[in-house]
Amino acid sequence: MAPAPDTLTIRRPDDLHLHFRDGATMRAVVPWTARQFARAIVMPNLSPPVTTSAIAAGYRERIGAAVPEGVPFEPLMTAYLTDDTDPDDIAAGFAGGVLTAAKLYPAGATTNSASGVTDIARIMPVLERMAAIGMPLCVHGEVTGAEVDIFDREAVFIDRELAPLVARLPVLKVIFEHVTTAEAVQFVQGAGTNVAATITPQHLHINRNAMLAGGIRPHMYCLPVAKRETHRLALRAAATSGSPKFFLGTDSAPHHRHAKEAACGCAGIFNAPFALESYLQVFEEEGALDRFEGFASEHGARFYGLPLNEGVVTLERLPAAVPAEIEGGEASIVPFHAGDTLNWRLVSA
Ligand code: DOR
Ligand code: ZN
Repeated sequence: MAPAPDTLTIRRPDDLHLHFRDGATMRAVVPWTARQFARAIVMPNLSPPVTTSAIAAGYRERIGAAVPEGVPFEPLMTAYLTDDTDPDDIAAGFAGGVLTAAKLYPAGATTNSASGVTDIARIMPVLERMAAIGMPLCVHGEVTGAEVDIFDREAVFIDRELAPLVARLPVLKVIFEHVTTAEAVQFVQGAGTNVAATITPQHLHINRNAMLAGGIRPHMYCLPVAKRETHRLALRAAATSGSPKFFLGTDSAPHHRHAKEAACGCAGIFNAPFALESYLQVFEEEGALDRFEGFASEHGARFYGLPLNEGVVTLERLPAAVPAEIEGGEASIVPFHAGDTLNWRLVSA
């Protein structure tokens, strides 16, 4: 067997799902993403949410102003769908290049989702229009009912909501975001080429024990919540399979330390600072370094119909020490892998 290489150069990658927030927190976290990624699909769950093209255009400007001088980075905006979303506004935003996609949050599913969709039937005119114009739909795939166990909410969503939606609108481009279960992997694999999924670094690295065994660890808590080990293994197999249906989306979700370390801690893992290094470690462990470029830089762009990025980034097999906390605007944020040392380091962009 050939020795493993000590450097890896890939086409500049994209993060197809993340949260930047706004204000001082946004200004603190954007540079971490811009140093690694050419583009990112930016989630709209601000408070209040980014529900229209005009709000998205303003938010895009504020993000652009937070990108360090000379760093080529393009935020790609999404609109937050509500029961009252106007199909004309969404279509105009897409045609005008302000919006890249729209996001479906089932009402109450996660952070700032209270104004989300209460019943997919209510937004059928928007979804039909999106299917007609080729605009992608990003989906938070969890049901919300109190009667459904939190570890089952993704699998139940597939049966109750996603499978019927995909059957009803067979040309709608759907990104099943941050998949966490073997059921989701299987659903995406079995669906048409219009259905794909993002996978986060944390769901490749941890199972639910990391959050709950030996003490409760709020920095390992995100939604959808990490599942049992069999699911993590299914996700690792999917991510490293080379299938164009699976691609990089960190779901980096910064919350200040005090909001995580609380009696009712927020959901979200801030993985942006060492995202590429984190994913690459998984690909190396799985013997799939040659498939990393597809996952990080090609599959997502092709699915979204975006041009592949010019330029490259290089990672070297060098220790990357992850700090215990990171400056996060008004307060510090604990990053994923805090205090650990990863095996690869991003050396040039
Ligand atoms: O853990 C999560 N955090 N999951 C989400 O879906 C939203 C995100 C956030 O905005 O904090
Ligand atoms: Zn997210």
